[in-house]
Amino acid sequence: MGPKILSVNWDVPGSHTLEVARSRGTYSRLAKAFALKPAEVTQVVKDSGLRGRGGAGFPTGMKWSFVPSKEKRGDKPVYLLCNADESEPGTFKDRYCMWLDPHLLIEGMIIAAWALDCHTAYIYIRGEFRFIQARLDEAVAEAYAAGLLGKNILGSGFDFDLHVHLGAGAYICGEETALISSLEGEKGQPKLKPPFPAVEGAWRAPTVVNNVETLAAVPWILENGAAAYKALGTEKAPGTKLFSVSGHVNKPGVYEIPMGMPMRQFLDEVCGGVKGGKKLKAIIPGGSSVPVMTADEVDKCSMDYESINQNAGSYLGSGGFIVMDETTDMVAALTNLLRFYAHESCGQCTPCREGCGWMYQILCRVRDGFATPEDLGTLRDLADNIHSKTICFFGASAAMPVQSFLTKFRDEFLQRVQRPVTAVTVVASTISSTPIASGA
Ligand SMILES: Cc1cc2nc3c(=O)[nH]c(=O)nc-3n(C[C@H](O)[C@H](O)[C@H](O)COP(=O)(O)O)c2cc1C
Ligand code: SF4
Repeated sequence: MGPKILSVNWDVPGSHTLEVARSRGTYSRLAKAFALKPAEVTQVVKDSGLRGRGGAGFPTGMKWSFVPSKEKRGDKPVYLLCNADESEPGTFKDRYCMWLDPHLLIEGMIIAAWALDCHTAYIYIRGEFRFIQARLDEAVAEAYAAGLLGKNILGSGFDFDLHVHLGAGAYICGEETALISSLEGEKGQPKLKPPFPAVEGAWRAPTVVNNVETLAAVPWILENGAAAYKALGTEKAPGTKLFSVSGHVNKPGVYEIPMGMPMRQFLDEVCGGVKGGKKLKAIIPGGSSVPVMTADEVDKCSMDYESINQNAGSYLGSGGFIVMDETTDMVAALTNLLRFYAHESCGQCTPCREGCGWMYQILCRVRDGFATPEDLGTLRDLADNIHSKTICFFGASAAMPVQSFLTKFRDEFLQRVQRPVTAVTVVASTISSTPIASGA
């Protein structure tokens, strides 16, 4: 399975404490980072090929290099924000990183901050994760007491403050510009890009937003070098990745594997295969926002960005691996997903605000045998008109599941609209499609 980079300490008793973390080598990479110039640290991360683990897979070192130089930004500070909002259905890896190894994340943030000439950073943590916030607060306090945070860290002359900020409790606050607004005390709503946060972000200063898993990978890269990281995974997707596995599998959980493992091998050998020996029907590979894959497509793909995209038209996303067996009702599954998006739209863009609610209501009718074949056409039209016509990627995230379910499991949808309507289904439809409130 290859080396563990992110989950290496998870099974060690007391892994969240500074004492155990230090005995495992955490914070030992700081000296190496401080011995390099900030631009050299960025270059190592660039050379490693590390790609952001928040969903888009954007190259991390390149993002860091977009921050304007001191000459260009004048007296503006640089902020580093760790995106710990993790609210996507099917994705539950960052919470384990923070719960079981908070010091690894803090070490990664100190190294990133050194590279970015940043002296203030925030961990923006999902509003519902109060218990993890408490653990992070403890870890941050321990690090301050040990001189690992604050003024003149380890005698390096580098000052760095880290704050833990509890999020606003809305999925959309994970979108980087919404996260920034929420951190500033404004409504957590996305903004149009450009300007990108690296140029103009929090308090209009250059801001790097990185996912928890991305930052936690940095210390290993510094210690072992870019070449060692590149030696893991695939050429375009180096390193290891955490996958959160849920649904109809024998061993759900969070697994760290090298990128590029054949998907079928991952399912059968790491996740223990489909539960109850049933046949696989579908997988959502990257958290609820990406297109669904059929069982045939699973056999053609490996666990990396390019393979999933080229062979199944889907995305690795944040690595939320949702498994569905042959008994899964695909209409009900999609309806359930759309309930989430209809509820979480922040309401700024008409196509997303209205369209997500309409798609959910139509799906309720389809699920309950109360829809007509024309409704399926309307559903498709709505999805096509939301995708890429909104301020942020949330619209596409809601549209892509609809488009892919309708295309890849068309027969199941057709069967539902051709079923005769009964009194029971009419009542069920009326109850289930009751409009739900939306807004961040
Ligand atoms: C609707 C929406 C929700 C998002 N939620 C998260 C999240 O919870 N965590 C996260 O790291 N990125 C999330 N992202 C992606 C962020 O906008 C951003 O790309 C990411 O934090 C960058 O980090 P990375 O470069 O390390 O991947 C979300 C994006 C969208 C459109
Ligand atoms: S796409 Fe949806 S979530 Fe994103 S800004 Fe527009 S309304 Fe808000």
